[in-house]
Amino acid sequence: MLAGMHRELGQPPIMLVDNWPIVPPMAVIASHQVAEQISKPSNAFPYSAPKSWSLDHAKDLIGHKSILIKQDAEWKAIRRRFNAGFAPQHLMTLLPVILEKMDLYIENIDAFVRSGETFSLDEITTNLTFDVIGAVSVNESMDAQYVERQGDLVCTFKQLMKTFVDDKLQFPWWVAPLAHLRRRRLGQLISRQLRDIVHRSFTDMKSRERDNKEPVRLRTIVALSLQDIDSLTPEVMEETCDQLKTFLFAGHDTTSAVLDWAIYELFRTPHALKGVHDELDALFGRDGARDPAIIKAMLLAPGGNEIVHRMQYISTVLKETLRLHSPAGSIRVARPGSGFVVSTPEGGDYSLDGCWLYLNHNIIHRDPAVYGNTANDFIPERWLASATDAPPASAWRPFERGPRNCIGQELANIELRILVAMLARRYDFTKIGLGELDLDKQGRPILGKNGQLKVNSEVYNTFRIAGKPVDGMLMKVKLASTAG
Ligand code: HEM
Repeated sequence: MLAGMHRELGQPPIMLVDNWPIVPPMAVIASHQVAEQISKPSNAFPYSAPKSWSLDHAKDLIGHKSILIKQDAEWKAIRRRFNAGFAPQHLMTLLPVILEKMDLYIENIDAFVRSGETFSLDEITTNLTFDVIGAVSVNESMDAQYVERQGDLVCTFKQLMKTFVDDKLQFPWWVAPLAHLRRRRLGQLISRQLRDIVHRSFTDMKSRERDNKEPVRLRTIVALSLQDIDSLTPEVMEETCDQLKTFLFAGHDTTSAVLDWAIYELFRTPHALKGVHDELDALFGRDGARDPAIIKAMLLAPGGNEIVHRMQYISTVLKETLRLHSPAGSIRVARPGSGFVVSTPEGGDYSLDGCWLYLNHNIIHRDPAVYGNTANDFIPERWLASATDAPPASAWRPFERGPRNCIGQELANIELRILVAMLARRYDFTKIGLGELDLDKQGRPILGKNGQLKVNSEVYNTFRIAGKPVDGMLMKVKLASTAG
């Protein structure tokens, strides 16, 4: 809707949407140059423009003390604590955990190959990413992928996430008090479930410390949160549970949405799928690339993590997917009286005092001034290192930029690269329902001028807290033919 309004207004760099008194007037930022002035530290805002209270309605999900909504020095201290958990070298030590969780994922897709059923790619991928973030956050099994006997925490989380689809709950509590009460109760139940985990982790850390006679330096989110803490006070408990809630939420839903879109785009873009196949054949061998067990063994062998860095073409596919189907965004605020002024590329200066500042990825990432007349097309090649007219770095910001950028972006990248590697050569995915391929009279797909197969309708993201494909990305899947 905002993108349509923006087009109708002639694509200005900033569009003012006045929803007062529901929320403050909102400056929708459509230019990457302006977005950059908001996300970078400045004299007015040393940690970049502050977060707005747009996430207040999600506090039952992410907690009141979440890193996502904290500001200034308080935020800085939390971020510093968790940075160690996302250092590149540490992330590579997580490969065995990530790969172990993928065994069941592949088994589940193989089951759909055998049954021929239509299934939601988003549902099974979200279960996988929940299992991964569970391992990274608390080093415990979430059992999200055992659909018949999912873990308690993931079940409660899913019920809570579903409440964000309910339109009534977008409004103040008095519009739908019972629905709000139910959401609050689910949030409290998650906190109770997490408290047990935090207790176990704390006891375990302290007993290891007693045995080793020195502090334990683990890098799970729970361990980093409890590092250098002597006593599990109610405040420490609440803080830790809130950060765990945030990481569990932020670390799974976005990553799965991106995988959904990457598979959708790849399987309707023959040249891109071939590019991925060629890269996988070169990295794993023609037979190896079709066999997740071989891919796993090669990634776990000494030097295997280098292979993840050599997935150059796959990385362009993901970059292009994140450009077109960015699942997140950022809403900041310039408080009244802050004197916050931005300059547009045309040279105008605008005071945005008192406004929410919505860094709208969907519009920025499709700016024709940057991406030309192929702004809406899926062209991974634009991101190749050899591309001479690559877009400016600030025009691609799915993880946002500056101090408040996404702490988990490298983890997401690793997960996504490995997932594409596991799926692209082994399977043949066909979209069902929205976004289905258009066929000619002989029943063959039709290649459009933009290099993509034509589709008979558009799939799109719905935005609640994060963007998700509206239909759960319904697919059918077969094993790929061994020819070609
Ligand atoms: C493709 C997947 C992902 C995308 C597109 C994404 C995107 C973003 C964006 C745009 C922000 C800024 C939000 C804002 O300004 O309000 C953000 C922040 C954050 N993300 Fe991600 N994210 C992804 C995956 C992850 C993962 C895997 C984790 C956890 C392991 C994670 C944890 C966080 C956290 C904790 C923050 C808050 C950082 C801070 O304020 O210091 N994200 N993410």
